[in-house]
Amino acid sequence: MEKVIIFDTTLRDGEQAPGAALTSEQKVEIALQLERLGVDVIEAGFPVASPDDFKGVEEVAKHIKRSIVCGLARCIEKDITAVFDALKKAVHPRIHVFLATSKIHLQYKFKKAEDEILEIAKKFVKFSRDLCDDIEFSPEDATRTERDFLFKVIENAIAQGATTINIPDTVGYSYPQEIYSLITDIKNNVPNINKAIISIHCHEDLGMSVANSLSAVLAGARQVHCTINGIGERAGNAALEAVIMAIKTRKDVFSGLETNINTKEIYTTSRLVSKLTGFVVPPNKAIVGDNAFRHESGIHQDAILKKRITYEIIDPKDVGLNKSELVLGKHSGRHALKQRLEELGIYLTEEKMEHVFKKFKELADKKKEIFDDDLLMLAEEEIRQIHKVFELISVRVITGTDTTPKAYVKIRYKNKVYQATSTGDGPVDACYKAIDKITKIPTKLISYKLDALTRGKDAQGVARIELNIRSKQIVGRGTSTDILEASVKAYLDALNKVVLSNK
Ligand code: KIV
Ligand code: ZN
Repeated sequence: MEKVIIFDTTLRDGEQAPGAALTSEQKVEIALQLERLGVDVIEAGFPVASPDDFKGVEEVAKHIKRSIVCGLARCIEKDITAVFDALKKAVHPRIHVFLATSKIHLQYKFKKAEDEILEIAKKFVKFSRDLCDDIEFSPEDATRTERDFLFKVIENAIAQGATTINIPDTVGYSYPQEIYSLITDIKNNVPNINKAIISIHCHEDLGMSVANSLSAVLAGARQVHCTINGIGERAGNAALEAVIMAIKTRKDVFSGLETNINTKEIYTTSRLVSKLTGFVVPPNKAIVGDNAFRHESGIHQDAILKKRITYEIIDPKDVGLNKSELVLGKHSGRHALKQRLEELGIYLTEEKMEHVFKKFKELADKKKEIFDDDLLMLAEEEIRQIHKVFELISVRVITGTDTTPKAYVKIRYKNKVYQATSTGDGPVDACYKAIDKITKIPTKLISYKLDALTRGKDAQGVARIELNIRSKQIVGRGTSTDILEASVKAYLDALNKVVLSNK
């Protein structure tokens, strides 16, 4: 059997999705789950981008023992040194350097000729290789690069020590047959290509990232870049779960190939990433969407009962959907809570577990049944606990059909309590205006969405908002059995992210 290496870039390209910013604690949580899932390489971030990014990569490097931990760098000395420094504690470090090679990028982004780009690539691949034995090189926008130049850059990158050559379809422009012929041409025209692993990195702009990645594998690529739930820059990246389940389900096509992924961890990983990034998984998403294994039509239901494979090509158990959704309630103890959280991919320290247990009991007093999503939300709040700059103490709103809504908000900021009052166009607007009076941070509300987290009349409300703050798009989320409180928490969550990232 030949291995297809799974390179997960949820924490780097995935985190580049507007609004998906993760704290270093959240990155560690996800990285540990990715390791349990069995990914071979975890790209943890772009260390030179900010001190937060650096810390994220550094923390992941400290905690991950089995998977390779990788950091991204441009072909610039300070980028590469930042990756090297952030990966000092990694058991298996990898430096990933990239440089655009397409005419469009050379002409408009760099204003440089091909010869100059070739020299830069050579110089910085060598510089990286002198620091680390495991070097991945990406000719950015490879699919729009002149073939002969691409072959030359790849050959030279390998000669300077690159051990993996990654082919990015940076703008999601390519289609499966084209990718197949590109990988085939690389194999036939780069004389030293057998000294490196060929990798593929596809984006979803035209909806073909998974198909393109699989096509590359069929042509001989032996590493695939992907992200959980397909999150990533713009329309996203190839979804790990779809790539993996296609290879597994279509053994007839991908014969002789295997991955290290434990598919039973897919669902847990998907939900963890969704909760921590705030990116809801669309119900119709392949493999991990809520409807992926639901059958509505009577004809389908009938046939499934007779023989599952009539309408189901994947056994839901294979992606970790067999565990019955154990419902916890106010009589459930610490042990049941801990066990369920661990099944959901959350491993907490004793101290954090105590906090979550306390909050679990408080919630159980408000609602009868506690579902997995409730637990994930409690755990997520705990993981982010230390990141509260502004904390809600109380909110009170007077509203009605015949009166102007008026909000009273009390917030803790640096151990001091502040309060403000405001009217608004609606109760939520009144709350947000009152908060603005305290924080004095100019914001623009771009979107506001309220959902029920689980089922039942007593379900918690989840508010998800997008704010524009200092030209950055920030997502905030808040949960509560009271929808106004959830809305205020979401607003404070976004503000906290901004304040913390500017520290
Ligand atoms: O899309 C892209 O080209 C990238 C590279 C940095 C690999 O993300
Ligand atoms: Zn990318």
